[in-house]
Amino acid sequence: NSVESNFCILEELKNIFEVAIGSAYPDLEDPPIIITLSGNNPKFGDYQCNSSMAIAQLLKAKNVKTNPREVANNILNKTPTSPLIEKIEVAGAGFLNIYLNKSLVEHVLNSIFRFGIKPPPVKRERVIVDFSSPNIAKEMHVGHLRSTIIGDSICRLLEFLEHDVLRINHLGDWGTQFGMLIAHLQDKFPNYKTHSPPISDLQAFYKESKKRFDEDEVFKKRAYACVVKLQSGDPDYIAAWKKICEVSRLEFQKIYDHLDIKIIDRGESFYQDRMVATVKYLKENGYLEEDEGRYIMWGNPDTHEGIPLTIVKSDGGYTYDTSDMATIRQRVEEEKGDRFIYVTDAGQHTHFVTIEACAKRAGILKPHQKVENVVFGVVLGEDKKKFKTRSGDTIKLIDLIEEGLKRSLEKLVEKGRDKVLNPEELEKAQKAVAYGCIKYADLSHNRVNDYVFSFDKMLDDKGNTAVYLLYALTRIRSIARTAQISEEALLAEAKKTGFKLTHEAEWKLGKVLLRLPEVILKVANDLYLHSLCEYLYEISSAFTEFYDKCYCVEKDKDGKIVKIYYERLMLCEVTARLMEKCLDILGIKTVSKM
Ligand code: ARG
Repeated sequence: NSVESNFCILEELKNIFEVAIGSAYPDLEDPPIIITLSGNNPKFGDYQCNSSMAIAQLLKAKNVKTNPREVANNILNKTPTSPLIEKIEVAGAGFLNIYLNKSLVEHVLNSIFRFGIKPPPVKRERVIVDFSSPNIAKEMHVGHLRSTIIGDSICRLLEFLEHDVLRINHLGDWGTQFGMLIAHLQDKFPNYKTHSPPISDLQAFYKESKKRFDEDEVFKKRAYACVVKLQSGDPDYIAAWKKICEVSRLEFQKIYDHLDIKIIDRGESFYQDRMVATVKYLKENGYLEEDEGRYIMWGNPDTHEGIPLTIVKSDGGYTYDTSDMATIRQRVEEEKGDRFIYVTDAGQHTHFVTIEACAKRAGILKPHQKVENVVFGVVLGEDKKKFKTRSGDTIKLIDLIEEGLKRSLEKLVEKGRDKVLNPEELEKAQKAVAYGCIKYADLSHNRVNDYVFSFDKMLDDKGNTAVYLLYALTRIRSIARTAQISEEALLAEAKKTGFKLTHEAEWKLGKVLLRLPEVILKVANDLYLHSLCEYLYEISSAFTEFYDKCYCVEKDKDGKIVKIYYERLMLCEVTARLMEKCLDILGIKTVSKM
């Protein structure tokens, strides 16, 4: 009865086999503990321990005569009994097939049902997640959308594990481009200080000023002078800069509001003073090399492997590299972070590898600390080319989201849902589907790959899509509703009888439901969210099989309820809660009706 709802089978098996292998082979240092799921064939058990082959190899290297099967038998003999394990069999070349004990699974399900889903216990860390991070006055493009969606979901997952998460929007809000923007602002809206400039399209404004900058020498000179004024902190120029940032921020906020993203703005400008201090620190400690008037820094000064950072330009200015060195320093020293995550497109990977190497070299990062660059591929259109509008322009995110809303409504109407749902419910469903499908399409693919953006595919109600899952969930929820059993009544029943997994399909579903903790721990480590999506889809497939084979409520031919299977309704409830939890981590809102 002491098993908690956050019981993690995989962790427990690892503990058991660590003990077994340790006592079978006490002389081996750090023997590999390899436990995996057995796959779909029930004759291989539920989980497998595959350490025997690797251990046999290690022993052979020490001139011990043995083979994997013998190793497997030795491990088996030392395996302590556990309420988790029904039996273990040695199979094939030396696999240990592990069969789970049903009553333990039933116990855990019962505690999930009675006490809710709890996160598996982990050591609490302060995690800094740098994501979204568009650039002021430039467009927020689909790459930023991916960063926003992936980053938010990573935060949600780590927050579920009760880590201390800092969500940072590292806006590109500083740099030489502000010179021309300010000069153009002064000409176009001379009274910008008293009246907010009515810039409706900041990108067009950016293009205009860029055009002048490229074509007009006088303007160019003024733009440079503006940068100097801005960097020296002249209040007029700071005011102009603030106005421009403000216009951009309002645009970005619209996207965040649609997608329900919480994030703290802390752009490059935040690090101005820290950049000065960091450059001083790097210079004084001899990390910088002069190179044609610039100051550069190598990750490895001896091998000159990779590319160096440009810390100070020949004109004395700072760069993206300088700001990221100051940033990592601030995150280590002031924020006291334990983990540093940056969600960007794969194109920036070399940059972050170099930042990590240089930060380690300079003693900013401790040897065990990492820069975790969560990279993702590019978004392609349905023609597999760069994602563009039909006329060849880049797609504005806000237009994309509006298109999603429109298409989602069309889909619901096509299915006749507008006749069943009231206007408020319909709108809720429309939003859940639109935002859900955009997020899920992104998160369900291995993020390192490029991915094809297709509303037709995302809005399909078959296959591994948000729409399919949202429908599946409402269907599960409606089962208990038709049985007219309240949650309290079910709870009373659970206290009395507990869970019983009798039918094969119930047993199969039950085992899938217990895997949330192991999936969560894996994703928290490798930050590949598609594993969580796969798990979610697996739950819904196991549920479908169960529901096909097992009555939850039996009715007579007049539709009168003749028998209610309480344990099965509990299984429905636990399934629904787990699906909701997974969707919540993915940032997807559920609806009770759609
Ligand atoms: N603003 C950058 C871009 O649009 C992303 C910033 C990522 N974060 C960082 N600390 N460099 O590509």
